[in-house]
Amino acid sequence: MNIDGIPTRTLRAHPEQRAFSIIDQTRLPHALHWVHVATLETAAHAIHAMQVRGAPLIGVTAAYGLALALADDASDTRLAGAAALLRSTRPTAVNLHWALARMENVLARLPPEQRCAAAWLEAATIADEDVAQNAAIGRHGLGLLRQICRRQGAALNIMTHCNAGWLATVDWGTALSPVYAAHDAGLPVHVWVSETRPRNQGLLTAWELAQHGVPHTVIADNAAGILLREGKVDAVIVGADRIAANGDVANKVGTYLKALAGADNGIPFYVAAPRSTLDFACPDGAAIPIEERDGDEFRLVHGLDARGVPSALHQLPAAAAVANPAFDVTPARLVTAIISERGVCPASRDGLLALYPEESRG
Ligand code: MRU
Repeated sequence: MNIDGIPTRTLRAHPEQRAFSIIDQTRLPHALHWVHVATLETAAHAIHAMQVRGAPLIGVTAAYGLALALADDASDTRLAGAAALLRSTRPTAVNLHWALARMENVLARLPPEQRCAAAWLEAATIADEDVAQNAAIGRHGLGLLRQICRRQGAALNIMTHCNAGWLATVDWGTALSPVYAAHDAGLPVHVWVSETRPRNQGLLTAWELAQHGVPHTVIADNAAGILLREGKVDAVIVGADRIAANGDVANKVGTYLKALAGADNGIPFYVAAPRSTLDFACPDGAAIPIEERDGDEFRLVHGLDARGVPSALHQLPAAAAVANPAFDVTPARLVTAIISERGVCPASRDGLLALYPEESRG
């Protein structure tokens, strides 16, 4: 995607310097700041503190973090310890676990002296695959959006939640990939962007849609119901952090409420996600671990003050009891279809296995 008109990936690898760069998403949309990551600990911090976020980008960052860890010591002990540290950073997005398992599987077969170079190559392969898969999701989703457009013949109003766009992946995004494809194909697309309290990932979505020139409107999370009820939304498209084998979907907290309101009003509710988000070992949504984050994410409100300086306001005293679950689970019955790099399928075990038949053998 473009930043100021320049095609840009969200992660830049510098293998010759044993480092990579990421955009510090905690500073967006107010400042675009790249962070140089040169140690395992910095990579783990970037994921935990949500400088990088979004399931696919978390996975790719962890893969590069593992490559960093092997620079001076690529023993079995170091490999296992570094993977364990990265794995502990965030529990819900299965892409993190998927990427680390894939890296460990490749690296453990090699003698230690070959592991560091191989880790950089494998991380780059994972990153390139992410870009290709998200582009394919865009093409499949575009087919669905064209059908909706043909039926109604007017502006196409998509609602999304959180940020499942370019910033959440290496490029293109998942939920937003069909939106970009539709916009680029000349469809009159407009996006309702929900703010996504408490971390306000909706503001990231608004920022990247603006960079690409896609018309959009930001709404408070609580406004989603009335828009769905009043026929102002043609389809909801969200991403996912983990899709269980039965099609239940874990995604940013608040997703479930949109799915309920969508179902009550006959609005299609699509989940866009690549293979790395599917967890065939997880039977259903009840088995998905839900991350509980620090209550200060909710007690403090971040923004620019009157002078334009980034600042935080306490909306609650430090001692106020708060709950801060970061994700929720939308049952498969509320999901119209899953859009993956292989196509569009029902949110069910049979639907997923029809797209990924190799998983029925394992
Ligand atoms: O806590 P976050 O910001 O990492 O959560 C991100 C989401 O919930 C996204 O919708 C999901 O990871 C899909 S990203 C393509």
